[in-house]
Formats: sequence, structure tokens, C-alpha cells
Amino acid sequence: MNTAPIFQIQSILILSLMILGIYLRRKRKTHVKIMSAVIIWDILLILQIELTRSAIAKAVQVMTNPWMLKVHLFFAIGSVVLYILMIITGRKLLSGDIKIRPKHKTLGWTTLVFRILTLVTSYWAVSR
Ligand code: HEM
Repeated sequence: MNTAPIFQIQSILILSLMILGIYLRRKRKTHVKIMSAVIIWDILLILQIELTRSAIAKAVQVMTNPWMLKVHLFFAIGSVVLYILMIITGRKLLSGDIKIRPKHKTLGWTTLVFRILTLVTSYWAVSR
């Protein structure tokens, strides 16, 4: 079975949810709930991809340009590292550390860019 569309649909939904969470960034409670869901769902997506990889791996081996796969992995792994930083700085903001706000803001927009590039490069990683 070709699982790529299932993963890509989830990836688009996760990204849409992240955009909604950023749009609602001033509604603190809603923002935290949405972003927590985004991070958990994205990690579950990575697990799904990993668990079915043995099936995909062979197809990918033939079709993928390794350079493109590396660029995709850079953004995908970068997104996970940024998620960890978002949780750390987000929790500090919640505990009243207002000085951390510019950092959370800059890292937040960087996370969005990384996540968009992860989605875009996923098309190269599986289909060519
Ligand atoms: C991918 C994850 C996340 C992104 C992209 C993100 C992005 C943002 C952005 C852009 C802001 C606005 C900052 C400003 O304009 O000054 C913000 C505010 C905030 N974020 Fe996040 N965030 C994420 C995750 C989290 C998490 C996990 C937490 C909590 C544990 C959190 C807690 C907060 C808080 C408390 C605010 C301030 C809300 C207010 O105005 O009262 N964020 N976030």
C-alpha cells in the first residue's frame, strides 16, 4: 500500500493546526492546548513513518535523490529540536518569565518556516 498520501494529509493538517495556534497566540490557554496537540501529533506522525519504513525504504532507495532526502531530514529533525525549545521557552513564559518572550517569538516563527519546508521537501523525498 502507498502510505505516502496518508502521511502527507496528516502533515498538511498538522501544519494547518500550527497556523491556527499561531493565529490564536494571544489566547494563552487555547494557544498552549493547540501547540501541545501539534507537537504530539507530529511526533506520532514520525513514529508512523518510522514503523512502516521497512516497506517504504526499498521504494525510496530507488527513487530518491539522496541529496534531496538529506535536505528533507535536515528540516524534519530541525523541527523536532525546535519543538523542544518551544516547550522549554513556552513553559518559562507561562511561569511568568517575560524576558523569554522575544526568544519564544523568534523561535516560533522559525519553527513555522521549518515545518513548511519539511512538508514541501517531503514531496521530493518520496515521489521522485
Ligand atoms: C510549535 C510550537 C509553538 C509555536 C510555533 C509558538 C509560537 C508562538 C508565538 C509566535 C507567540 C507570540 C509571541 C509574541 O508575539 O510575543 C507565542 C506566545 C506564547 N506561547 Fe507559544 N508557540 C509554540 C508552543 C508553545 C508551547 C508548547 C507553550 C507552552 C508550554 C507556549 C506558550 C506560549 C505563551 C504562554 C505565549 C504568550 C501568550 C500571551 O500572549 O499571553 N507556546 N507562541
